[in-house]
Order: sequence, then structure tokens, then C-alpha cells
Amino acid sequence: MKWLLSSFVIFSTTLHASQSWQSYKKDTLSHQGEVWGWCTNEKAEKLMNLIHDTNPKVCVEIGVFGGSSIYPTASALRYNRNSGVVHAIDPWTTEACLVGYDTNDPNFKWWQALDIESIYNHFTGMLKHFKLTNQCKVLRMTSEEASSLFEDESIDILHIDGNHTADVALADVLMFLPKVKKGGYVWFDDVNWESTRKAVDYLSENCEFQEARSVKDACFLFRKP
Ligand SMILES: C[S@@+](CC[C@H](N)C(=O)[O-])C[C@H]1O[C@@H](n2cnc3c(N)ncnc32)[C@H](O)[C@@H]1O
Repeated sequence: MKWLLSSFVIFSTTLHASQSWQSYKKDTLSHQGEVWGWCTNEKAEKLMNLIHDTNPKVCVEIGVFGGSSIYPTASALRYNRNSGVVHAIDPWTTEACLVGYDTNDPNFKWWQALDIESIYNHFTGMLKHFKLTNQCKVLRMTSEEASSLFEDESIDILHIDGNHTADVALADVLMFLPKVKKGGYVWFDDVNWESTRKAVDYLSENCEFQEARSVKDACFLFRKP
């Protein structure tokens, strides 16, 4: 009888926790479309699930834009209530966005025409609007400038989504992979771009691909051995 009672208590507690996470997640995702950027609801849910399942203290995102992927990340960290933080690295400058692109490349023209300051203002406004400022530390600088701020093997979850030209994407992986803990995770976005191939190959050769948690043909998750 005692065993039956404690099993019931464990079962109902687990059920309650899981229901409340599901409804919190659903609420977060219902606002995903309000945040500027490219993070789909499918990717946002996978970012959230990894945080909920692994309870990280230190997350880092390279390439923030309007905060489309920071939003679900910071929201999941808030639910965990363990003082986990995401460091949002982005210089929000036209100059950094143009590095590596030929002037005839449509990406060059797109980034050149963009009012990047208004993207930054949307991002900081979004953090305040959704009350996520305690979960996000904004580092307005390039990934290269930010790299010295992180010790080796200090990051639980790294998300690389910065400048997508070949040399910068590979440099981000080479600079930041040593800073990820053994057993930590690396998200890499836009794996299907020709320009990101060397960076993705490097991760595939040096980490374990987490297919089930990845977004097919778009955003891959790797685990550092
Ligand atoms: C593809 S967008 C990021 C998308 C965002 N993660 C989302 O989910 O919507 C690329 C971002 O990388 C930033 N960026 C460009 N060069 C960078 C660098 N060297 N270090 C960090 N971020 C950089 C740009 O300012 C831009 O906001």
C-alpha cells in the first residue's frame, strides 16, 4: 500500500511537471513569430528541449540578429530556474556582416541595405518585453573579440549562427569548440549552405552528430566527446 501510494505521488508529480513544461513551451512558441530572425518553431522547440533536458549553466550564441533563437533559449533557461545564462554575441555592424562576401553577391547587397541598428533595438526591446534580461548577457562584439572571454571547456551549449562565409564560419568552430565542455553540445545553423561545408565537416569529424535532436538539412546538433 505504501509502495502504491509513493508510486502515485511520483507519477503525479512527474505528470504535473511535464504538463507544465509543455504548456510553458507552447506559450513561448506562440510568440516565436513576433521576434525578428530565422528561427522556425521546429528549431525553437528543439533548442528549448535540449535546455530542459540538460539543465545548462552557460550557453553561448554567435550571431543573434533580432533574437529569434535567443528568445526560445532564454525562455527555456528561465523555466529551469537554475541561473543558467545565454551569452548573445553579435557586433550588430554592417562591416562585420559584409566580411567575406564579394560585392556582387546578393548577400552583400542584402546586408549592406539593412538598418542593423534597428535590428539591435528590436532585440534589446524583445528581451525587456518578454522579461528575459536576467537570462541573457549581451556581448556587442565579434565572435573573435568575445572568444577570449570564455575559458576552455566552460560552455555547456554553443550555437553558431554568425557570418556564414566559409572562412568566418570555420573560424567560429575552431575558436569556440575548445571552449565547449566535454559532453557539451554545439548547434550549427544553415548546414546546407555551400559556404558552411568546411565548418560542418570539421564538426562531423570531431564530434558526435545528434541526428534525432537536429533539424533536418538546416540546423545540426553535435556532442563534443
Ligand atoms: C544569420 S544571422 C543570425 C540569425 C539568428 N540566430 C536567428 O535565429 O534569427 C547572422 C548574424 O551574425 C552576425 N555576425 C556577423 N559577423 C559576426 C561576427 N564576426 N561575430 C558574431 N556575429 C556576427 C550578424 O550581425 C547577424 O546578426
